[in-house]
Amino acid sequence: MEKNDAKPKWYEPSREVTEQANVKEYDQLYRYSIENREAFWAEQANQLSWYKKWDKVLDDQQAPFYNWFVGGRTNIILNAIDRHLKSATRNKLAVIWEGEPGDSRTFSYHALNREVSQFANILKSMGVRKGDVVTIYMPQIPEQLFAMLACAKIGAVHSVVYGGFSHEALADRINDANSRVVITADGGYRRGKVVEMKSVVNKAMELSPTMEICITVKRTGIDVYMENDRDYWLHDLKSLPIASNKCETEEMDASDMLFLLYTSGSTGRPKALVHTHGGYSVYTATTHRMVFDIKPEDRYWCAADPGWITGHSYIVYGPLINGSTIMLYEGAPNHPYPDRWWKMVEKYGINILYTSPTAIRGLMRFGDSWPNRNDISSLRLLGSVGEPINAEAWSWFHRAVGRGNCPIMDTWWQTETGGFIIAPLPITPLKPGSATKPFFGNELAIVDDAGKEVPDGEEGNLVIKSPWPGLAKSVFNDPQRFVDTYWSKYKEQGWYHTGDSAKKDEDGYYWIIGRNDDVIKVSGYRLGSAEIEGIMATHPAIVEAAAIALPHQLKGNAIHITAVLKSTYKPTKELEHELMVHMEEHLGKIARPEAIVFAEALPKTRSGKIMRRLLKSRALGLPDGDLSTMEE
Ligand code: WT7
Repeated sequence: MEKNDAKPKWYEPSREVTEQANVKEYDQLYRYSIENREAFWAEQANQLSWYKKWDKVLDDQQAPFYNWFVGGRTNIILNAIDRHLKSATRNKLAVIWEGEPGDSRTFSYHALNREVSQFANILKSMGVRKGDVVTIYMPQIPEQLFAMLACAKIGAVHSVVYGGFSHEALADRINDANSRVVITADGGYRRGKVVEMKSVVNKAMELSPTMEICITVKRTGIDVYMENDRDYWLHDLKSLPIASNKCETEEMDASDMLFLLYTSGSTGRPKALVHTHGGYSVYTATTHRMVFDIKPEDRYWCAADPGWITGHSYIVYGPLINGSTIMLYEGAPNHPYPDRWWKMVEKYGINILYTSPTAIRGLMRFGDSWPNRNDISSLRLLGSVGEPINAEAWSWFHRAVGRGNCPIMDTWWQTETGGFIIAPLPITPLKPGSATKPFFGNELAIVDDAGKEVPDGEEGNLVIKSPWPGLAKSVFNDPQRFVDTYWSKYKEQGWYHTGDSAKKDEDGYYWIIGRNDDVIKVSGYRLGSAEIEGIMATHPAIVEAAAIALPHQLKGNAIHITAVLKSTYKPTKELEHELMVHMEEHLGKIARPEAIVFAEALPKTRSGKIMRRLLKSRALGLPDGDLSTMEE
């Protein structure tokens, strides 16, 4: 129901939603979770299975390297698969998958276990052992999920690299992780075309001295180059006697590594965040169950790519631990028509749909008639993640997709946080554009650079004051970088620095404004200015370049480059185009700049830092601001 009060507009959840909500009250439970943080998380952890329960909930002796559920023995697979095999969930659908061409496959939890166990045995036969890093570069097919889960099952560490990244970006990640096994597919389908993947892996392997073995799934049947003793087809391996579909799950320490996930920061090359079996299981399961109000009969669809943290936490792990039926779709939302998603919602009876503002804006431009021509009344809850959702997209999602009665769970979080940090519950009155309030156990604040809290309504830095079980354990092979990036700004206070600007209003609702560092969010994808500039500078025409984010109607932000050319090059349209292709080839399509302008020099501080803020304010026609640090 919608109140007609003056601004800001509140959206009260309907009786239907609140009556069936798993969590019926926020304030009291929030207070309890803050005052009794360890007890709260122990209660949540007690809802999961453990080989052995923890001796201590939280050890902060080595802060900011927090240890949760110390002494606990588990494996995320124990909860995501094994325990379901002993209940009625065994015969429930775990996965409904649809390929872009329209083919579909489904797996019960029983069937999922057989697939994952078989894949796990195959990995073992390739010499993969506990702690080894396996790189996964795949289209959105069921085997992507099986590969991730198979790694976890045997205690190997998966590193999923988004399938849109170039071979160089892939090779960088393989090399940084010292990974010797990669899992891929010949290709996948996107917008009616085959996107090649194995050929990209082949090029990456040439740049990766550690790479020994590649397992390839046949998805499209295109011709691919395979090398003896290095390349194996998954279907060949599956027919070998070693590929039994029975496999013991490896017992792990709660703090053992589960996966690495590369993400961009404000400086340097992408880094791998490390997530672990124990705390991450508890955090993803709890947040998913409470925020999406998961019911046993729900069909849940997170339409992200498993290659990002959203996919890890809220397609794969959280939902499977909660025994949900998850939907997976391979291709583009508007192929062959802009109602592809709505057709699948109707066909499979989806109850919860979780996506991004970029995807919503992309579908909104085709108008209401596309959702309207399908019966999508099965939807009960909607979700949004990745960037602030603008009022227009919120209203359209709420009205045209949610028919005015599905609350939108705007969830704020990061690769580093493992799961939701700010999010409503279905019972929370909503304000469009606000992710509302902190999830249980989390204490937040909006502070200035000195750490002083700013008054309500004023913009400041968003910090998290207390540890939570989903927090990444470290940066892989670079603990100092973990400390420097997230914990040095508010070292004395011991707060986690998010890198986001935000405001809190008089009702305690949080409003995320965007990154306050040099991270750029293009269509919700996270890229670093320094990373983009570094690749630009590898082009022979470029002396140096600066990358900034400017607002874009569909993508939220787009990359704008200011480039300084070598004197032998002329600033032509052709060169601009060539540089755009250069970015695509060296990083990926998502890194293609919106525009490139050529300049004589870049504005810099006296200490030689590029003044990106100045480039941005000039591009937006805003005042220059403080120029006292600028060099002559
Ligand atoms: C950054 C983290 C967490 C899953 C996907 C992104 C932005 C994320 C929201 C939201 C406004 C959001 C922040 C954050 N962000 N969710 N609901 N409202 N901004 O993970 O790639 O690690 O990016 O995404 O700027 O810092 P990520």
